[in-house]
This record gives sequence, C-alpha cells and structure tokens, in this order.
Amino acid sequence: MALIARAAEFSMREVLRRLGVAVCVIPMTMLPGLVSVAEAGTPPRERLLISTDWRFKRGDPEGIATDLRYDVLKPWVMPAGNAFIRDPARRHVRPPGNPGGDVACVQENFDDSGWDRVTLPHDWAIEGPFLETGPHGGMGRLPSWGVGWYRKDLDVPASDEGRSIFLDVEGAMSYATVWLNGHLVGGWPYGYNSWRLDLTSFVVPGGANQLAIRLDNPPDSSRWYPGGGLYRDVWLVKTNPIHVSHWGTHVTTPKVSRSSATIDIAVSVDNGSDADATVEVSTDLYALDAGGRRLGTAASATKSKRLKVPANGTEVVKHSTTVANPRLWGPPPNQAPNRYVAATTLRRDREIVDRVETPFGIRSVQFDPDVGVRINGEHIALEGVNNHHDLGALGAAFNVRAAERQLEILGEMGANALRMSHNPPASGLLELADRMGFLVVDEIFDVWQRKKTPLDFHLIFEDWHEQDLRAFIRRDRNHPSVILWSVGNEVGEQQTGEEGAAIANKLRSITREEDPSRPVTTAMNWANADMPLPATMDVINLNYQGVGVRTLPSDFAAYRARFPDKVIFSSESASALSSRGEFLFPVSGSVSGPVRPGVGGDFGTRHVSAYELHAADFGSSPDKSFSLHDQHPYVAGEFVWTGFDYLGEPTPYDAARSSYSGIIDLAGFRKDRFYLYQSRWRPDLPMAHILPHWTWPDRIGEVTPVHVFTSGDEAELFVNGKSQGRQTKAPYQYRLRWDYVTYEPGEVKVVAYKDGEEWATSTVRTAGAPARLELAADRSTIAADGRDLSFVTVVSPTGTD
Ligand code: GAL
Repeated sequence: MALIARAAEFSMREVLRRLGVAVCVIPMTMLPGLVSVAEAGTPPRERLLISTDWRFKRGDPEGIATDLRYDVLKPWVMPAGNAFIRDPARRHVRPPGNPGGDVACVQENFDDSGWDRVTLPHDWAIEGPFLETGPHGGMGRLPSWGVGWYRKDLDVPASDEGRSIFLDVEGAMSYATVWLNGHLVGGWPYGYNSWRLDLTSFVVPGGANQLAIRLDNPPDSSRWYPGGGLYRDVWLVKTNPIHVSHWGTHVTTPKVSRSSATIDIAVSVDNGSDADATVEVSTDLYALDAGGRRLGTAASATKSKRLKVPANGTEVVKHSTTVANPRLWGPPPNQAPNRYVAATTLRRDREIVDRVETPFGIRSVQFDPDVGVRINGEHIALEGVNNHHDLGALGAAFNVRAAERQLEILGEMGANALRMSHNPPASGLLELADRMGFLVVDEIFDVWQRKKTPLDFHLIFEDWHEQDLRAFIRRDRNHPSVILWSVGNEVGEQQTGEEGAAIANKLRSITREEDPSRPVTTAMNWANADMPLPATMDVINLNYQGVGVRTLPSDFAAYRARFPDKVIFSSESASALSSRGEFLFPVSGSVSGPVRPGVGGDFGTRHVSAYELHAADFGSSPDKSFSLHDQHPYVAGEFVWTGFDYLGEPTPYDAARSSYSGIIDLAGFRKDRFYLYQSRWRPDLPMAHILPHWTWPDRIGEVTPVHVFTSGDEAELFVNGKSQGRQTKAPYQYRLRWDYVTYEPGEVKVVAYKDGEEWATSTVRTAGAPARLELAADRSTIAADGRDLSFVTVVSPTGTD
C-alpha cells in the first residue's frame, strides 16, 4: 500500500509572511524558460504561477441561456492559434460580438462562494466515484467527461498599464474557452497541448480582473483515462509590448565534438505596439550544474544583432556562437546529462526590454540504420518504456515529484528512454528527462482524420492539426532529451494508401519546418513495408511485429529490405499483462501466450498471473520480445508497453478500471517483470529475483513452479536447502525456470553464476503470523511548497510490500 503525503498547503512565501519576515521577489531563473529580472525597477518580464484560490464547479450553473458549445464559439476560439498557421491567408479573424458575455458566472459580481476552492494542477475526475456500470472501462470508469468551470481573481496592478499580458495554460482537459472581465478571449480544444491567450486588450490594470474558464470534456473521446480540468500549471506572463515571442527561441547544436560545439540560436521577436521598433538581440550561454544553477561566467556569447520588427509584427534573428570543450549532454551510465542555458536579451535604445532563458543541451544524435542510435558517438540501445500521462492515485494532475519518482524507478530498472504515448507530455516531465538523461520520443497524436473513438481528436483534426503540431514542436524543441518527433500512433490512415500518406507527408513537412534538426516518425501496427505511408517517415517505428497470436502482414525483415537506409525500432513491444503478486495456477509451460480463462487469467477476480508469461493477443511476454530483438540486431531498441500501469484500457477485463501492462503498478510498486527487464538492461548489476512468493498454505505438496530472473547466466535453486538442480540459459532464453518444484513451507534460495563465478543470491521465505506494520517514507524531508510529496510504503517486517 502506498500513501502519499503532501507538503503543507502553503508556500514558503506564506510561511515567511506568517512569521513576519519581509517577502522579496525571488528571480525565478531556475524555472524553465522565459523568466528574468531587470537590474533595477520592474522586471521586463514576469511569469507568475497562478495555482491557488481558484473556484471550481462541475457542470454549467443554472440559467445559462447562451449556447456555449465549442461549435458555436469556434469562430472566437480559432484566432488563438494564428501564431501557428504559416499561411497568413488562412489565419482567423475574430468576428464581432461577445458570446457568453451575458453569462452570470463570467461576471465579476457573480457569487461563487458556493463553488469549491481548488489549487492547480487539478483533475476533477480523480476523486471519483468509480462507475460500476457503463461503457467506460477504456476511460478508467472515472467521471472525466462533462463541463467544468474555473474562476479566479487576477490582481493586475496599475503599473502594468502598457504591458502585454498573457495567460499561459500548460494543459486544460479539454475544449477550453476563456473569458476575462466578461469578454470572451479565446480558447484551445486539444486537452494535451499547451497554449497562450493574449489578455492585453481585455485587462483592466489597477485591481481585480475576473478570469473564467469553461472546459467541456467529451465522453467517448479517448482510449485511456484523460482526466479533466486545469490539470497542469497556469501562468500569467507580463512583458514589454516588444518581447521574445511565445516559445520564441530555438537552440540547435549542428556541430558537436569534445573540443568544440557550434550553437545556433534563432530568436523570434513580437512587436505588439503600433510603431515599428528596432531592437538589439544578444545571447549569453552558461553551463548549468545538476540542480540547474549557472556555473561561473558565460561560456560563450553571440554578437549583438539589430532587428527591425514592424508594428504588430514578428521577426526572427539568427545568430551563432561556439563553445570550447563543451560539457556534453548524454544518457548515463557512460555519459552525463549536462545542460546549458541560453540567456537572450533584447535591448531597445540600450534599455533592456526582455530577457528569456532557454535551457538546452549540447549533444549529437545520429540515426544509423545498421547500428541504431548514437549519442555523441556512443551507440545507445533504446531500452525504453511507453507511459500515459496519469500518475495513478494523483490522476492526470501533473506533479513533478511523482513524475521524478517514476523516472527514478525506471532508471533503477535500467530504462534509458521514454515514448510519450500518445500526446504532448507536461513540460515538467521533459525537464526531468533532460536533467536525468532519458532519451525521448515526443509524440503528439493518437488519431488524424480517422477516428478511434467517436468524439476524439479526428473531429478537429482539419481545423487544428497545424496549430497543435507547430505549438507542440516550438514548446519542446529545445529539450536535449527529445531525439525524435512522432506525429502519430497506429493511425487509421495506414489503411488509406496514398491519401493517408499525403497526410503523413504534410505532418512531416510541418514538423521539419519547425525543427529541421530531428527526424520524424509515426508508429505503425498495420502498414506493410510496401504501402505508401511508411515511405513518408524518416524513422520506422513498429508496434508489435507479429509476435502475438494475431498475425501481422509484415515484420522487421521486410521493413529492413524495403528501407535499408532507415533506422527501425519497436515503438511498442510486449504489452505483457499481470497483476502484481497474484500468481495463478496451473502455470503455462510456454514462454508467451494470450490471457485466457484459466490460462494466465481469472475472469472472476480480474487478475492476470504474475508469472509474467501472458500478454495482449497481439503482444508477447518480455522473453519473447527480447528474443525477437536479439534475432534482429539492426533494430535500434524497444519501448515496452508500458512502464507504469495507467488508468483506463483495462485489457483483458473491460469491467476493470486500469491497465495490466505496466512493469510497475499504479502505486509505483515493482511487479516481478521489473526484474526481468533489469536483468537484461543492467547486465553488470549482480542480481537474482525469485518468483512466486513462498506463502502458500493451500498448496502444500502441490507443484508450484519457481522462476528466476538474473543477470547471471546460470543458477542453482534450493528449497529448504535441497538442490532443485542447476540450470544454464540457452540462446534466446531470458528466465530460468524450475517448473516441477513441490511446495513446502520454508525457504527458497537461488545462487546465480556468471562466467562460472558466483554472481548473486536471493532468498524468499514463508511468512509467519502477522506481527506489525512498518512505514517507510521515500523522503523524510520535503519542501513546504504545497506540491512536494513523500511516498510512504506500508511494509511487512519481512520486507515484502
Ligand atoms: C497499442 C496501442 C496502445 C495501447 C496498446 C495496448 O496497439 O498503440 O495505445 O492501446 O496497444 O496494449
């Protein structure tokens, strides 16, 4: 059982205030991007987190006469995406009128005292209740769909007169529409993307400004739990009218060696004033330490460049510099995730009008079809996992510490890569990946024009794919962890020949326009190598290559023959299923198979056996997937479906609520499979893991197979001191198994060997009578910032969870 302790619900600033200590403005230079403080006076740019004192209500309040559905408000919403539409002729002009302006709950004088008081990030659905009936197993049986309103008073001082003011939303699930002081400002439908609205013309400096946000999350819109609400951070950003555009910096490292690196920096500048303006743009580069603090003086600086920006227009300046003896970014254990920050300054008549900071990393990435991926020249086999965005009991509400803990657990297993399936992640997760050295496949869509669920993104693909794709890439392109863009997952357009390929080509072109430095892929489960769609992509991503009981039309070899110049890897592998600690008998003698009643599955208890031999029909056990990859060494690696269990998609029991495919369960406890991956991904770690547990009062005298996962190559098993024989791994064998052990209480011990030498031992014992419970906190000191967490595990004295 895991308990999550949350830090006190008040910030350090509040603590200091209560203690009567003067509160000073702390430069938020450690935060990702775009925060700095001028030498004197008002900072040229402020980025204020607005997380507390929100009011929230499910459903539309009584008496709303106006139709507020997205389809009706769309003409007022579309202009929010204009900065991401390349062709000016296709940009949207706001129509006259102010729909919803008459609705009571967007007015300042509306009485919201009966609404809930919430703190962001907030997922309205995770508190339940779980639904016992209905067709929503796929979406997690939690009430995520429907309307929700948020209200917040924004205090905008009179001194903000003349500044540009923006609302930055990192994620709102979904179909957001926003009013400020009773005016419809705009919105953004895709719940996973981050977006900005320009509040400037609606703000009244000198007091409270009433913000109201309506979300309308459709039912049957997802194949997994989407969550609902303002589930990521929301910021108020204040700038000079002449400022660096939203996500307006782009740092690339086209030439990298140990002795020198070339750094190209493109800076986009917006002029929100009615007069042309000329600015000087310069960027200094600093190395960062592991905690994100600047190390010493500038490592390099660009020459200052003059840029003329037309009134109400945007211009881009490109500059370049070199860094001698760069501290390269790369994945552990052989490399270190060193980072830099590019500090860009805009000056006008010598006055600083903006400063933004862009963390980045210096690294080279090569995609070699014969070898796979090289980072700074080192071949890195992709040993990755897929994850959805929920954090188990925390739901979709993003929490940095919970995500960091997930990555720590994955790192312990030996994972070095993450695929963001199948939508833009929280940017905080990418920052963690940067800091901890994970390689990332950043993915945006699960569907294009062809739907997977009736109300999914296909409904707005035509209107929004360009804006969503460009926004996603501009947001994420400076993260050194991101090595590849994925524009889709198992899209239906695999089946529509040239028509589907044309869409793929368009998405690839948009991606390359925004970031020519990385290749583009889409994950395929159906397409044949000689179909049109695979040819459109730079890298071949394949899900489940015919290893399950369902046959597929193609395989690695066919792709290799058709695309000898392209890297191939498994964007999804395994989809093995299990319930942690639930061992079902009899145990299959085969190495992999589908879940069936009595064969790995119990449709009454809704468990799947933890012997880790069963999978979704199209998938396979880890063992079979390892064998497949070892027999195709040119395949660059695999991303297991999935690292963690997630809410929704409870294959094979639709009546259940959460997935069975995680290597680690919803609470963050390692399933036995964890050690099978560890034995392969950390071959130098001496380890041996025995399954099952050894407390079976009803099985005395019964055959109870014992399996061992070890990084050794052979092992001997003992039951109460009696040898059960020594076994050696055969080629393409990844577990050692003693399938005819007769259960007797006591002790099971394994001694593993590597190259003939003793390598690791492990023991499991029959549990005694319950004695006591112990609590173990993963961290005993946490920040009092309302966000930090300690995960408290209830352990039995014998040490099992
Ligand atoms: C894949 C799909 C994933 C997930 C998985 C379940 O085909 O891409 O999103 O549904 O199957 O095993």
